[in-house]
Formats: sequence, structure tokens, C-alpha cells
Amino acid sequence: MDKQKQIQHIPPAAFNFMTNYYDTITEMFGFGKKLKRRVLEMLEAKDGETILDVGSGTGTFLAIASKALPHSKLIGVDPDRKALAIAREKLAGVESRVTLYEASAEELPVADKSIDICVSTLAFHHLPRLVKLKAIQEIHRVLKPDGKFILVDFGKPVSFLSRILLFVGGFIDGRDNLQANLEGVLPIYLQQVGFSVSEIAKPYRGIHFLMANK
Ligand SMILES: C[S@@+](CC[C@H](N)C(=O)[O-])C[C@H]1O[C@@H](n2cnc3c(N)ncnc32)[C@H](O)[C@@H]1O
Repeated sequence: MDKQKQIQHIPPAAFNFMTNYYDTITEMFGFGKKLKRRVLEMLEAKDGETILDVGSGTGTFLAIASKALPHSKLIGVDPDRKALAIAREKLAGVESRVTLYEASAEELPVADKSIDICVSTLAFHHLPRLVKLKAIQEIHRVLKPDGKFILVDFGKPVSFLSRILLFVGGFIDGRDNLQANLEGVLPIYLQQVGFSVSEIAKPYRGIHFLMANK
């Protein structure tokens, strides 16, 4: 086992022992493969473009993208060792095109202006406020001048039901981390860092789809 200390973070399903069930849980809530396929469509990526998934978790998005974009280089960044191990299994056979890093979004192990498209699904509500901002600064740094970033995560609730569900979810995933999303800080931080931002789809189960262009 790697003796290096693991980066402090909230695991995919909040608790370490739940990571093996993460994919089943996300499928149950409608946040699994179907959502990732939808996000891939929204990206309008060209085959051959380099794509970075920040908070790539168990690698579901990367696995789907690797099939749809057989000439693209894919990179995943996540601090969670168990999730990375599951992702590695899922990505067996496409290792030559996919690189996974055990790292934090606030310090991306990626060169300046080297990424065409960055994506992040359901990861930002796991990050403390300052880390959210640092992560967005890092994404801005690594994107090419005409690059884009699609940020898919919980945002300002648009219905009473989503307000209640998000309130309950906050006890699991770190109250203030989620709270900041619900206050609507993500589009504000994106603009602060220099992105132009638009919502490219209607919110889905509390999740907002933000397109940020450099
Ligand atoms: C709810 S999961 C989402 C995983 C995947 N993107 C998906 O949509 O299924 C949140 C992920 O964010 C990761 N995460 C937590 N802190 C992080 C950080 N500082 N930098 C990058 N990822 C982080 C967790 O390890 C976890 O895999």
C-alpha cells in the first residue's frame, strides 16, 4: 500500500466504506451513466481533443468519453484512492489514452493551456469555498485560450422539493461545502476568475449545468 498520506477530502459517497456502492447509488438517483452521457453531448467535443475531468471519481464519465472519442486524450483528477482504483478497472483497455492522477482540484498536475475541455460533475459540492475558487483558477490556468469548462453540480434550488432534498444531503456531504453551492457561488466564482458563464440546460434534480468559456 502507498505509504504517502492521502489528500484530505470528502469521499464520493461521503463515507469511505460506501465507495464500493457509489455507482449503484448514483444510478438509483439518476446521476449515473445517463447524466454523464448527457454531459458529454453538451460538451460538443471533437474527437482528438484533450479532456480533463476534475473530481473524476469512479471514472464513469471518462469510460463513456473514451468510447465516444477514440482519438482523444483523457485525464482524470481525484484524491480518493478507492475511487481511482475502481476507475482504473473501468478503464482497462484504454490506459494508453487515459491518465488518472491522485491529486486535488486546487493543484492540478497539468501544464498551462494544455486542455481543450474541462468537465466536472458532482464534485464541487464536496469542496470547501476556498478550494472551489482555487480549483476554478486552476482550471482557467490549464485550459487553452479558447477552452471551455462545463461545471455540473448543485446550485440555487429552483423548487421547494429540491430545497428539502439538498438540505438533507448537506448533512452527508459537508454542510457548508454544499451550502455555498446553494447560495449560488459557482457562477460568481467562475466570472471572478475570468470565464463568461451561461446555463446551458434546465436544472435537473437540483443540478445546474454551467458552461464557462475562457
Ligand atoms: C460525488 S463524487 C462525483 C464523482 C464523479 N465526478 C461523478 O459524477 O460520479 C465527488 C468526487 O469529488 C472528489 N473530490 C473530493 N475532494 C476533491 C478535491 N479536493 N479535488 C478533486 N476531487 C475531489 C471525491 O473524491 C469524489 O470522487
